[in-house]
Amino acid sequence: MAVDLSQVSTIDTEPGELPATMAAWVIREDRQGEPRDAFQVEEIEVPEPGAFEVVVRVMAAGVNYNNVWAALGEPVGVWRYGDHPEHGHHIGGSDASGVVWKVGAGVTRWQPGDEVVVHCNQASYEDPEVHGLDPLAAPSQRIWGYETTWGSFAQFTKVQAQQLLPKPGALTWEESASYGLTYFTAYRMLMTRCDIQAGDRVLVWGAAGGLGVFATQLCRAAGAQCVGVVSSEEKGELVKQLGAVGYIARSEFAGMMRTGSETPEEEKARFKVMRAFDKRVRELLGEKPDIVFEHVGAATFPTSVFTVKPFGKVVICAGTTGFNLDFDVRYLWMKQKEIIGSHFANAYECTKANELIESGVIRPVLWRTLGFDGVAEAHQLMRDNQHLGKISILIGAGAEGQGRTADGPGAIVAEVGA
Ligand SMILES: NC(=O)c1ccc[n+]([C@@H]2O[C@H](COP(=O)([O-])OP(=O)(O)OC[C@H]3O[C@@H](n4cnc5c(N)ncnc54)[C@H](OP(=O)(O)O)[C@@H]3O)[C@@H](O)[C@H]2O)c1
Repeated sequence: MAVDLSQVSTIDTEPGELPATMAAWVIREDRQGEPRDAFQVEEIEVPEPGAFEVVVRVMAAGVNYNNVWAALGEPVGVWRYGDHPEHGHHIGGSDASGVVWKVGAGVTRWQPGDEVVVHCNQASYEDPEVHGLDPLAAPSQRIWGYETTWGSFAQFTKVQAQQLLPKPGALTWEESASYGLTYFTAYRMLMTRCDIQAGDRVLVWGAAGGLGVFATQLCRAAGAQCVGVVSSEEKGELVKQLGAVGYIARSEFAGMMRTGSETPEEEKARFKVMRAFDKRVRELLGEKPDIVFEHVGAATFPTSVFTVKPFGKVVICAGTTGFNLDFDVRYLWMKQKEIIGSHFANAYECTKANELIESGVIRPVLWRTLGFDGVAEAHQLMRDNQHLGKISILIGAGAEGQGRTADGPGAIVAEVGA
């Protein structure tokens, strides 16, 4: 049956009761590829909530790089993970704002009608790591809407009750759907994993991107000084607006990017550019950084290890340009530097971070809001690095600007075009 996209903001049932089917953007194994082709709208059955689960009516969904990877099927397809083998489809989307529609057995904290945002970490409550170490250490740990299906690019999504957080009142549906995954990840990287201190100096790669806009704001909130690396002057201006003391246009230092196939002469030349970059960082920050915030991976990692100060920390959560990192390890061991891996955040970190949004200390940075028909296009824009900050998708919300229940500053609008 063809799905009528003009009707996605309309639901015929009341909270507590689910319709039989819904519109959803679906990726399937036989059409992995560029996001514009891999995502297609289908009519799918609405899932029932199991024990300690909740079905949420999605009012708006946030766009993240993880579903660029899911579309491409790189570095691996999602099909072996989570509940994919059971259902055979991938409904992506790891950020949502919405309304609790139906709760499963055992759920006491949330009722139909509650307005929520969703964090994307799932783990089985039966795993002991969840109760004594960290849910991110549990063997059952999965990222909802990436390693599981029933993500947020649909009229309804199925989540664990522990994933729900109160929706910040001063934000619209699209603003509150936009920040969770990247902001909570940046929060754990800097606050928990690096124990950032007032007075610290921080270098942030991709500072106008999804992670970077929050890393930059968190540095300011913690009393740390931050310099952002970006690819355009417009992005640099945004990063300064978010509290960075300065920015570096990476095009000036293109020669420092590691490809892995350099000849010894080329590597020498690369090293020279890397030293010049290090000098620029010191000029802007006054000293070498205590922390380098990494997610670019292979191209930048040698520079990150070289540039961070002795005993400093390189914290990394991704390898967008490549996962096999090679760098001169002498700069690590002789200067006693640390490399710290980090992955999303636990429910407590998400709760604390969400309170900073509620109080307006940290603000979402929204670049575009698209209709439900824009899911594939939004992921293609991200794949092509055409965006700034975050992109949201309206689903249950019929128009932008709805859902605000309190006064407050709202999102920062990243107005400059890329
Ligand atoms: N493990 C986790 O929990 C976790 C959580 C969130 C995201 N991630 C991953 O982290 C990565 C970034 O996510 P995001 O949401 O921040 O993506 P994003 O919005 O695309 O931002 C990434 C930024 O990196 C910069 N960049 C891209 N290619 C670069 C290169 N060759 N050299 C230097 N900088 C480059 C771009 O900025 P400029 O062009 O301005 O330099 C871009 O704005 C993705 O791979 C994502 O899957 C992991």
